Parts: sequence; structure tokens; C-alpha cells
Amino acid sequence: MTIKKSNRLVLGNWKMNGNILDNAILLNGLKNVDYSLHCDFGVLVPFPYLSQTLSILHGTKISWGAQNLSIHSSGAYTGEVSATMLKEFGCDLVLVGHSERRILYKETNSDIAKKAFAALSVGITPVVCFGETLDEFKAKQTFNIIENQVSSILELGCEIVSRMIFSYEPVWAIGSGSAASPEYVQDIHFFIRGMLDQIGASGIKILYGGSVKSSNAASFFVMPDIDGALVGNASLIIDDFLSITKL
Ligand code: PGA
Repeated sequence: MTIKKSNRLVLGNWKMNGNILDNAILLNGLKNVDYSLHCDFGVLVPFPYLSQTLSILHGTKISWGAQNLSIHSSGAYTGEVSATMLKEFGCDLVLVGHSERRILYKETNSDIAKKAFAALSVGITPVVCFGETLDEFKAKQTFNIIENQVSSILELGCEIVSRMIFSYEPVWAIGSGSAASPEYVQDIHFFIRGMLDQIGASGIKILYGGSVKSSNAASFFVMPDIDGALVGNASLIIDDFLSITKL
């Protein structure tokens, strides 16, 4: 796979969904995309399906990866999966710090920075997620929360951060069916872009995630600081996902 700096990027986050039969339909369907597109795309699948994904997508321009990884490289960490293992299954990408991991599994900013670093150390691009909860949004804390989450990643320094992809995903928009407004997202992305500029990290992709679907994706893509989308539910329906990549 090649993720071009200038191309839009659309990633499907399957979350804990899928089975071998349905995955085969979805993954084979993805291969029908028009490769002349100005859009790169990929899928982030559950660990057990990485082998299936590798065997179907191998040799295509489609990227794939996992949704989590360990901060450790090997050893007595029952139930964990290392970056090196992901690399063996051809992963180019891994999600780090998705809000479902931050909230349900209590991942901290420090864990997330370590995971991003572990991924990069074997050449996997971390897609680092940020976002405020509904309570934080209502309390008008969005910018503080984002600043806090992003700062802890920026501590890794410009050279390391420049190899990441960011994704802003307001928790209240995820899985709700109602996305945030493109103008609101643009403001947050512009703010994040400013933080990146301060450490000299330019050209980093910032995706938006939260109820992106074929009917609203274009309204995000016209915004100057929105470089693509992280798509949950709609990535499980081949026609929806393909139509987002074709916009
Ligand atoms: P959604 O999920 O598109 O179903 O809202 C996005 C995500 O959680 O990455």
C-alpha cells in the first residue's frame, strides 16, 4: 500500500464485528475500487481476521491494520499483541487511543503515546484518535480536552509525530447516526493543525470520525483541514464504504 501525502484517506474501523464469510464478501468487494482515485483507503480489522485480510488484500493498494496493540515488544503479557506480530500480517496501520479504548479500557494519554511509539518502531503508522465526551462538549471543554490529549502525543517530538496520522472523533458523534457539523470539525482540526505547526510538524493527515456515511462524507471533505474519514458502521456495508471512497 501507499498512502500519498496529497491523497484523501478513508479508513474503515470494523470494531468487534465480522465473521469469516461476511469478511470475504467485504474484502473482495473492496478490490473492485477504481485505483485511479485521488483517495487512499484501508480497513482496521479485529486481530483474528488479519490473516484473512492479508490473504485477500495482498498485492492491492488497499491498506490494512489492527485496532490496538501492546506497548511491549514480547514477553509475559497474556492476551496482548505486539507491533512486530502485526507487521508479520502485513499491517501498515494501527488505531491507537480510540475513545472506546480510552473509556472502556481506561487507556491513558501516556499509554497511547507508548502505543504510537511501539507501532512506529516497526514501521507501522499509528492512527491516533482524540475526542471529547458529551459531558465535556456540553461543558464547553472541547478545546481543553483536545489540547491535553494532543499535547501528550506531541511530547514525542516533531520527527516521530510527523510519521503519524491523527483522527478527531467527538465521542458524542460516534455511532449516534448524527455527525458533528463540518464547520465545527474544521475548527477543531484547525486548532490541532496549529498545535502541530508549533512543533514544526507539517503535512500530517487529520481525519474526522463519528457517523460518517455516504450522504454526509462530502461535506467534510470540502473542508481545508479535514484530510479524510475514519468510518465505523458505514464501513461494514460495502456499497456505502465504496461510495465514500469514490467522492
Ligand atoms: P461510526 O464510528 O462511524 O460508527 O460513528 C466511528 C469510529 O468509532 O471510528
